[in-house]
Amino acid sequence: MTDETVPSVGPAWADVDGYLEEALGLGDEALAAALAATAAAGLPDISITASQGRFLQVLARTVRARAILEIGTLGAYSTIWLGRALAPGGRLVSLEIDPERASIARRNLDAAGLGAACEVRVGAALDLLPSLEGCPPSPFDLIFIDADKPAIPEYFEAALRLGRPGSLIIVDNVVRKGEVCRPDSTDPRVIGVRHLIDRLRDDARVQASVIQTVGRKGHDGFVLALIRDPT
Ligand code: SAH
Ligand code: DHB
Ligand code: MG
Repeated sequence: MTDETVPSVGPAWADVDGYLEEALGLGDEALAAALAATAAAGLPDISITASQGRFLQVLARTVRARAILEIGTLGAYSTIWLGRALAPGGRLVSLEIDPERASIARRNLDAAGLGAACEVRVGAALDLLPSLEGCPPSPFDLIFIDADKPAIPEYFEAALRLGRPGSLIIVDNVVRKGEVCRPDSTDPRVIGVRHLIDRLRDDARVQASVIQTVGRKGHDGFVLALIRDPT
């Protein structure tokens, strides 16, 4: 579905998002500067939105997150939202494959005053994830999966190993303008997402839902999965 064929209710999404950002006072200079630096470096405009950032903060505070893992940093816009929601003394680790993006992200975190609490590690997430097992700050209370989409099922398995009962796993971009409900999709990103979602029903390790989101970046959604007690 292209932007031109979005149903007539579509344009209201962006207007409402703008209203909510204003009404709720979402965003500030550090967040705006991070987005501006990300754009100035020519990076794609695929950060979460401010409304989604606040949503992630509310979730992080709900689970009283002291340790957060993010997979996919880009310019650290989402990292700033999550880093600010850390409990006192908390730590965040974010994984980014692109060294240039990682250094932009570090600069943005430093400028936001989060350089000490939030660490960006460079490398392919599947290579880095095993090194996080069994040492602080793991187990993570919240894991935000937002990197390459075909690997989502593998990231989810890693998140289960790196969390604990009560940890929250959040996966971004799982609706993709509705593409997720096409079983015949040949898009490897959609296939990756469906591989995860189609197995959640029978996965006794988690209790999960998917929330669709609309806003200035269109129609998408998050998987929310709470790791269950094994008993
Ligand atoms: N979370 C960010 C957006 C991340 S965009 C925000 O909302 O602000 C996805 C990022 O994942 C990109 O910067 C991309 O370089 C990175 N990425 C892609 N494949 C990866 C991999 N295999 N390992 C780690 N990072 C990866
Ligand atoms: C894409 C990736 C994202 O993480 C996102 O939030 C939006 C789009 C992408 O690769 O197209
Ligand atoms: Mg995303």
